Amino acid sequence: MKRQVTWYNLLAGVSFLFILYALTKNYIFDPEAKSFLSHKTLLNRELNLPVWLNVMYVHVAFACVAMLAGLLNFSNRFMQKSRKLHRINGYIYIASVLLVVVTSGYMAPYATGGKISSMGFNMINLIWPMITLMAFVQIKKKQVIRHRNWMIRSYAFCFTNMAIHLLTSLFHLGFGLTYSGSYTIGVYGSIVLLLIIPEIIIRTVGKPRVISTYL
Ligand code: HEM
Repeated sequence: MKRQVTWYNLLAGVSFLFILYALTKNYIFDPEAKSFLSHKTLLNRELNLPVWLNVMYVHVAFACVAMLAGLLNFSNRFMQKSRKLHRINGYIYIASVLLVVVTSGYMAPYATGGKISSMGFNMINLIWPMITLMAFVQIKKKQVIRHRNWMIRSYAFCFTNMAIHLLTSLFHLGFGLTYSGSYTIGVYGSIVLLLIIPEIIIRTVGKPRVISTYL
């Protein structure tokens, strides 16, 4: 029990810090995304800045809602309090995922790093809703453990932006590659990491005995 609380708190801490970072950076410190847009050198099509920025605001807002809703639904205490709230919150999560994906669909063609980055984003746009749908289908079949495991896989993609920026910094600042090249590596590296890490979590800290209170 103690171990479970610790892992959950760790996840909550990382999620809260990232939400705080995403909200302050994109709405307060750099609302015109100047630093991010300064790296867009390989664009094939012209970017309509006001539209792009508004789409980005919606994107970030629902990304944060998805992160919060997902986090809350992994809490055993929340689940024990009310299954109804867990269900409503689950629908909020699904709606947020869809809105993040739709806004991502608009931004993907203009992605930093050009066409190859765009393709990576479009892959995520397919993978994330499919994984989330699997989680939904499993709970409709009353398969609680499978539902939880698919939700772990789905929730991992809430960390897409964090993973991309960490990998980009590693390759750009650490290994001296160009920013856009590092960003493209970041996009594909994130896909690989965000598919592998949940499998490790499911097989280690997320073993069914830990969630026995779920049932
Ligand atoms: C859930 C957590 C997420 C957050 C907080 C988030 C946040 C952001 C932010 C702040 C940007 C603006 C540029 C930057 O600073 O990176 C951005 C861009 C973008 N995001 Fe997300 N995002 C998230 C997840 C996703 C997911 C899952 C996808 C794919 C389905 C996605 C697709 C995109 C695309 C295509 C762009 C434009 C990239 C570019 O112009 O190079 N994001 N995101």
